[in-house]
Amino acid sequence: MARAARERSEQERESRQAGAGVIHLRGRGTDVVVGLSHGAPEVVHWGAPLSEPDGTALDAALERPRVHAAPDTVAPVSVVPEHGSGFPGRPGLLGSRPDGRGWAPRFRPARHALDGGRLTVEALDDVAGLALTTTISLDHALSVRAEVTNLSPDEPYRLDGLSITLPVPARASELVTLGGRWGREFQVRRTSWPGGAHTVENRRGRTSHEHPPLLFAGAAGFGESTGAVWGAHLAWTGNHALLAERLPDGRRYVQLGELLHPGEITLAPGGSYRSPEVVAVHSEAGLTAATQQFHRRLRARPEHPRSPRPVVFNTWEATYFDHDLDRLLALAERAARIGIERFVLDDGWFGSRRDDTSGLGDWTVSADAHPEGLDPLIAHVTGLGMTFGIWVEPGMVNPDSDLYRAHPEWALANDGYQPVLARNQLVLDLARPEAFDHVLGQLDRLLAAHDITFLKWDMNRDHIGAGGAGSRAGTHAQTVAVYRLMDTLRQRHPGVEIESCSSGGARVDHEILRRTERVWTSDCTDPLERQAIQRGASMLIPPEMMGAHIGPERSHTTGRRHDLAFRAATSLFGHLGVECDLLALSDAELDDLAAAVSVHKRFRPMLHSGDAVRFDTEPAYMAHGVYRPDLSEALISFAAIAPVPSLTPPPLLLPGLDPGRRYRVERVPLPGERSGPTHSSPPWWDKGAVLRGDELAHLGLQLPPLHPETAALIHLGTA
Ligand code: DGJ
Repeated sequence: MARAARERSEQERESRQAGAGVIHLRGRGTDVVVGLSHGAPEVVHWGAPLSEPDGTALDAALERPRVHAAPDTVAPVSVVPEHGSGFPGRPGLLGSRPDGRGWAPRFRPARHALDGGRLTVEALDDVAGLALTTTISLDHALSVRAEVTNLSPDEPYRLDGLSITLPVPARASELVTLGGRWGREFQVRRTSWPGGAHTVENRRGRTSHEHPPLLFAGAAGFGESTGAVWGAHLAWTGNHALLAERLPDGRRYVQLGELLHPGEITLAPGGSYRSPEVVAVHSEAGLTAATQQFHRRLRARPEHPRSPRPVVFNTWEATYFDHDLDRLLALAERAARIGIERFVLDDGWFGSRRDDTSGLGDWTVSADAHPEGLDPLIAHVTGLGMTFGIWVEPGMVNPDSDLYRAHPEWALANDGYQPVLARNQLVLDLARPEAFDHVLGQLDRLLAAHDITFLKWDMNRDHIGAGGAGSRAGTHAQTVAVYRLMDTLRQRHPGVEIESCSSGGARVDHEILRRTERVWTSDCTDPLERQAIQRGASMLIPPEMMGAHIGPERSHTTGRRHDLAFRAATSLFGHLGVECDLLALSDAELDDLAAAVSVHKRFRPMLHSGDAVRFDTEPAYMAHGVYRPDLSEALISFAAIAPVPSLTPPPLLLPGLDPGRRYRVERVPLPGERSGPTHSSPPWWDKGAVLRGDELAHLGLQLPPLHPETAALIHLGTA
């Protein structure tokens, strides 16, 4: 080796030993080691804490050998892996110059800085004329995002995608993704990691009922409290693509990014695109511990709601579009009587909105539906001690509306094509300043003129052929504009909370939750469906953000009937609400409902600040709960969701409690319980029992036989 080269490599080794080659980020139970030898940073380790990682030693131990029929250098799975360096999977950055050049960039490291645990790495490609800046931080969860800048003084750069890639160890051989449909969101799907790639693509312009932007990879057979798990979420409210790929050389990675339509983003000279944030979690001890990191991260933000989450009454399933003032006043009275704290007037109060064919876009109170305006209703509601909320769908327009008649050009469309309607509506182009200002003005006036403290902000249409300026695909710009509209309204009306609703739970992610306090998890309030929906949603959001309403005895979406006890036991673990025709209930039924609301209020402080836990059970059951963070108390739900395979359920194991603490175990009776245990019950069921945390973890708690579609509620307090 020439002397100069030998000196250079020695210097390099020294600097790497001194820590310049790797950056060690310490989280809370998880560490990340980032390598800086390539252009984009490379996550060398994402897992258990390490003492003092040494870049040289890691290289010596982990450097991959050359293999047959492969490049002479092994390209890393960097945060933005490069085809141009030989990475054989899906490149992190996709794009090109107008003449086709610049499509296979290869970045070189430029500089990096570590500031308060936040690593910023800048890389340059002088040939492609691009700069890439990656930021990585680790606290409750790992957060990664990247930004590409077009350095050319005169040439645009067409961007086809900028995704974040994270390597996952080879022992992660199973994948969990969430799927579903309207009325059945957040269904957990587990597969073994296939050879090749598992892809999830969403082009609906919202996070979607079908493909929420979340996936987990874990060791074979990983469970709620066992096995290593790595999870990643794309905090973005538009289109997305998720990929989990096993490369032929054995390496595995997950990749998450915004899915851009062809031509959707072109960077002008000097222009930049910043990827959505990828939030990633890891645990060596199962899915529950990993997903709690998503919750802790949300709760740590200053904007996280701190006040007790008010119990909601929502008018939708009680009245639909029929806004009769007398009925609404009577509903408010009954709502107050059962302990409701926030009364929400749903769709139908504005413009010509007497059904779902017209009126969207005209955010002025309808003289037809509310001849005296909203004030008599609001005064009645607030006079009864409740706050008042109202439904809006600001990003949409019905062709049959004053707004559309005046400005048909404000709808997202594709010139030359008849737009495809969905629920008789089109997307309003909020990226167009006049449309944005118009909607902002109307909502601003609505909030300024009325005592409204809550907006249920809906979105009931996919983006289909949603072209913005010049018919260019408009989903990205619309998503950013919706954020800006929410942010502006929140600045002007700081006391107003917002719920993210989208035909139920089709708009749920950590970016929308920076500006919304709650999500409407699903239009389906059937508790049997809700057990699964809320279980899936709990993998991303904490209970206090999860809208969960006690619906009518007979579900409007499934037609099934359920006792109040099962409906209540299911809903009270979220941000509780009631959504049914209270005027159709007897006094006794109202009393039961009031008792259910008070059970929730009794446990609310713990439910809305504790650690959500899910338990592994036989498939006929579903069990979950909330532990107070100091482990002094817990509330557990054990539900039979299907005909049971054996006459008695197996003991429910409750891991993670304080092993030496003595817990008083008691059943919490639920109002409206018509069917209790089917035969006999264990002694603790009626008399309570005292058990230590280690006994509950390893021996478990014997439940009585339960009817299918019933749930038991169990309280653990310190004895
Ligand atoms: C869809 C929502 O999910 C429902 O709760 C309700 O608000 C309707 N939209 C109103 O149109």
